[in-house]
Amino acid sequence: MQISQSQLNDLDRDGFLILRDLFSVDEVAAVRSRLPRLFAENHPGNVIEKESGAVRTSMGLHLRDALFAKLVRHPRLVGPALQVLGEDGYVQQVKVNVKAAFSGEVWQWHYDFATHKEEDGVPRPLALNLHIFLDDVTEFNGPLYFVPGSHKYGEHGSVLDDETTSYPLWIADNQTVSQLADRNGLVSATGRRGTVLIFHDTLLHGSPNNMSPWDRSIFSLIVNPVSNALRKPTRPDFKHHRDLSPIRLLNDDCLVADAVA
Ligand code: SIN
Ligand code: MN
Repeated sequence: MQISQSQLNDLDRDGFLILRDLFSVDEVAAVRSRLPRLFAENHPGNVIEKESGAVRTSMGLHLRDALFAKLVRHPRLVGPALQVLGEDGYVQQVKVNVKAAFSGEVWQWHYDFATHKEEDGVPRPLALNLHIFLDDVTEFNGPLYFVPGSHKYGEHGSVLDDETTSYPLWIADNQTVSQLADRNGLVSATGRRGTVLIFHDTLLHGSPNNMSPWDRSIFSLIVNPVSNALRKPTRPDFKHHRDLSPIRLLNDDCLVADAVA
């Protein structure tokens, strides 16, 4: 799948693009059906919330489940990203961020490239983060907040926060967020399950805790150009995969065409 010139312009201007209802309810149900087994595994890629003990994020999923192996090659998800990159991309990171009802915790303000650069030695902020909503995401259950246009300011200051949550993150300082949000406002990315987000590596984003009675799970695939691959492979593979082979797209019906083992 390709996106239009006007969508490309929006992504360039805002740093993110929302593609509503791109995946069907059946496709989302197929993906969701894999989660209970994955979350129950004793796997280092399952990160648990500090307070509640619920799964916060579950990583490396395309190596742990055959349906996720297809999802990371899905043309509706990855086609637009390869179009934007204009070159081959590899699977950098694959996860589901959960944010459970009543207990899902905050993701602090950050931009992804800070981690990619500091932890993995990625040279340039070219990676794209691709999300699929696996629940309806509303104003109540911890949607992502974006500072639109903040990717245009290059790298922002960042420090490692390994205290606030159970997932260490290079976070942005409040002053940077204030300045850019005062100028450009904030957007909260909501939509029905099946909606897709694409966003840039230097876009400031975060999400509040989920005090609602509704779960909010989101699939995330980070695609990085092969030419921009990590130079410092120190983190576990599930945080930045070492297989740099170019993503080759499958058929559009790959999630529902036939039973997947
Ligand atoms: C979230 O799941 O709310 C945060 C996701 C991200 O930082 O990409
Ligand atoms: Mn992020």
